[in-house]
Amino acid sequence: MNIVVIGTGYVGLVSGLGYAKLGHRVACVDVDVAKIAALDLGEVPFYEPGLRDLLREMQEQGRIVFTTDLYSVADGAEIFLIAVGTPPTAFGEVDLRAVFHVADDIGKCLDHEAIVAIKSTVPVGTNRKVLDCVREKMIAIGRENVSRCIQVASVPEFLSEGKALEDFFAPHRIVIGAENYTTHDVMGRLHAGLPGTRICTTLENAELIKYAANAFLATKISFINEMACIAERVGADIQTVAHAIGLDPRIGPSFLKAGIGYGGSCFPKDVSALHQLAGLNGYDFKLLGAVIEVNNHQRDWFLRKIENRLGSVRGRKIAAWGLAFKGGTDDIRESAALDIIQRLCARGAEISVYDPFAMTRAHGLLSDDIVFAPTAMDAAEGADALVVLTDWQEFRDVSFSTLRERMVNPLIFDGRNLLADMHLSGLGFQYEGVGTSG
Ligand code: UGA
Repeated sequence: MNIVVIGTGYVGLVSGLGYAKLGHRVACVDVDVAKIAALDLGEVPFYEPGLRDLLREMQEQGRIVFTTDLYSVADGAEIFLIAVGTPPTAFGEVDLRAVFHVADDIGKCLDHEAIVAIKSTVPVGTNRKVLDCVREKMIAIGRENVSRCIQVASVPEFLSEGKALEDFFAPHRIVIGAENYTTHDVMGRLHAGLPGTRICTTLENAELIKYAANAFLATKISFINEMACIAERVGADIQTVAHAIGLDPRIGPSFLKAGIGYGGSCFPKDVSALHQLAGLNGYDFKLLGAVIEVNNHQRDWFLRKIENRLGSVRGRKIAAWGLAFKGGTDDIRESAALDIIQRLCARGAEISVYDPFAMTRAHGLLSDDIVFAPTAMDAAEGADALVVLTDWQEFRDVSFSTLRERMVNPLIFDGRNLLADMHLSGLGFQYEGVGTSG
């Protein structure tokens, strides 16, 4: 099939390359001239395992092209897949300007029957509005007859950063929201060759499934984080508790890692958006309000823990391991790590930071007083305390006996329980995890 993917961020680029690998001919469109130029040269503008190799493979096989000009690739395209960003506004609403801008552009250049599919995470009802928008544009330029043949589909993504390709090629489910059998069928053919249960359903269901999935996972995280607070108070170990409850298949083992809370470009935005959607529809979604509150509280609580132990952090040298919102990515959007570093810095701590992939992105966002160290060990040199903020496996591989010698005070606050099983107290460290004493 001939498909056009609009938006070359994490979702658009991974999906575009994924569909190309499945055998489709893909044109990726973006307004960012520099990004398109880099992609054209085989460069991926962010870190995502396997993506660069797949990009080059698809380019060599001539299955994918990149352009800033939608018109030049619209001819004969069967599916226009919208994958642009839907960031939160200052008021916590979903900013849909990019989606509707693209819908306008599609309407202006469409002169044949096609499906407009939306992969961006959008509030319930948006797909229908996008279809109206495309049709209105077509009618305005005298294409009323063809406009009736345009269909819309909601195809939410469930890609997790750091393993996005893995998730693309081994999905648990493929959700397709549409208004008729033909559209479901065409969208089904787009995904032919992929495993996973097909959920062919209505537009509204598909839109809500996406929010429900992210909100439920965020709820699991906030639940285990509150349990960690209890565990700490009663002298229990959250990791043992999480492991034991996770063995029950009704609960499941994933998303039960206690820590400094969830971040990233999806969970904070999507949980708030669903909370707001509920409110707009006259329903107070109390549980989600609490999920958000617990998540914010988790960062405050971690900071208090550090301050309680050190007295004041003013003038104290603190090494921070991690900037990304989780291990495996260089994405620092809504990163709890970044927030904690900024707050420690504002309280007068002298911060030295290291992250294997996210340093470039964080430069310029953090205060000039913060030192970017070339290695994890260098960051910890002369430190009064070490805070672990991102779950990079690399941090487990340092020599902890050398680390012990390099630090002035062998105190570790582990915001991810990454080192909890490493028996660091036996090596002379004072170790504080989240709901665990290691
Ligand atoms: C998430 C979902 O997992 C994807 O299915 C979804 O497609 C994506 O959002 C999206 O909406 O686009 P992602 O944001 O890449 O993917 O990250 P996750 O792996 O879900 O982690 C989110 C946050 O939760 C991270 O800050 C992570 O550190 C935190 N987390 C995760 C915990 O604190 N504890 C856990 O047990 C798991």
